Amino acid sequence: MGKPREERGREGLRGTPEEMTEPAPVTSRRQALSAEADLPGSADVADFYELHQEWPREVGRAVAEHLLSTLGPPPRRCLFLGSATGVNDVLPFARLADLRDRVVGGDVEPAYLSRLAEHARREGLQNVQVRRLDVQKDLANLETFDLVTLFFVIHRLSDWQDVVAPLAGLVGPRGSLYLSEFAGPSGVIYLSNEKGGDLSDPVSRMIRRYFELLLEPFDPPLKSSRIGPVREALAQHLRPSGFREFDWPQRVTVGDMYTKIESQAYAPYFGTHPSPDVLNRLRREFEPDWLRTVKLTETVRVYRFLRT
Ligand SMILES: C[S@@+](CC[C@H](N)C(=O)[O-])C[C@H]1O[C@@H](n2cnc3c(N)ncnc32)[C@H](O)[C@@H]1O
Repeated sequence: MGKPREERGREGLRGTPEEMTEPAPVTSRRQALSAEADLPGSADVADFYELHQEWPREVGRAVAEHLLSTLGPPPRRCLFLGSATGVNDVLPFARLADLRDRVVGGDVEPAYLSRLAEHARREGLQNVQVRRLDVQKDLANLETFDLVTLFFVIHRLSDWQDVVAPLAGLVGPRGSLYLSEFAGPSGVIYLSNEKGGDLSDPVSRMIRRYFELLLEPFDPPLKSSRIGPVREALAQHLRPSGFREFDWPQRVTVGDMYTKIESQAYAPYFGTHPSPDVLNRLRREFEPDWLRTVKLTETVRVYRFLRT
């Protein structure tokens, strides 16, 4: 059912430190983070998201072109739920959309919305609006849209089952809902969620070793690399209409990967609780490979559901 991969982004992982010198010792247990909102300082929340999760600009543009290609003529009503600062979804789309379109970025975290509004203002994107929305509480009273996206959000919700019907209800006649998943077989986020996967490069091995040393299980019902139950539930309300894949090329040193683990960049790390001893062991074991660069490809898979 999938169509061939269609776009290649540029090389590199934006915002990743170019080179690590010496691995830093782990001196104290870090505070566990249960969600972005737990990060210290609101500007830090937005910076942290953009540092670790911003796709290359070409990838965001390719996804936006795909979304636009399925829409009728302007003016269109478009809602990007869980948009964070909008760098991957709202902004690439708004740049290509018509000025008569309404492009709404909704998120539960005000710091993300402030950053998104700032980006839009700087770029003169007058079609962008921001709205504080909790998808677990605020969907029932919203109007309908021609396009709704929920990119990399559903696995973060405490109760995703109750969100499915109101989410589908937001899609107007002939409108589309898009959901995303990391498809692998590589990519730092995919591998992190898949406990290192089964590749043999040192980045994959480091992630695998983290979970071996951790001993704590990491098996939530949904991950950003596994949203099958959500797709099945949505199919009760909307017609599944295949998917497209977009490649996010990455160059990551082993030291970069350690930093992502140590700073709890992704859910598998802020959802687990390594002791300083675990991190020190990981760092020591991978010290000989610290500066090795590994080329990975994160695959963003975008599923479409149609209101017929
Ligand atoms: C991994 S980020 C995805 C951001 C963006 N869509 C992307 O694909 O890069 C997850 C986002 O979901 C948001 N989020 C989590 N729970 C939410 C909720 N209950 N309602 C709305 N947004 C939520 C977070 O604040 C965060 O911005």
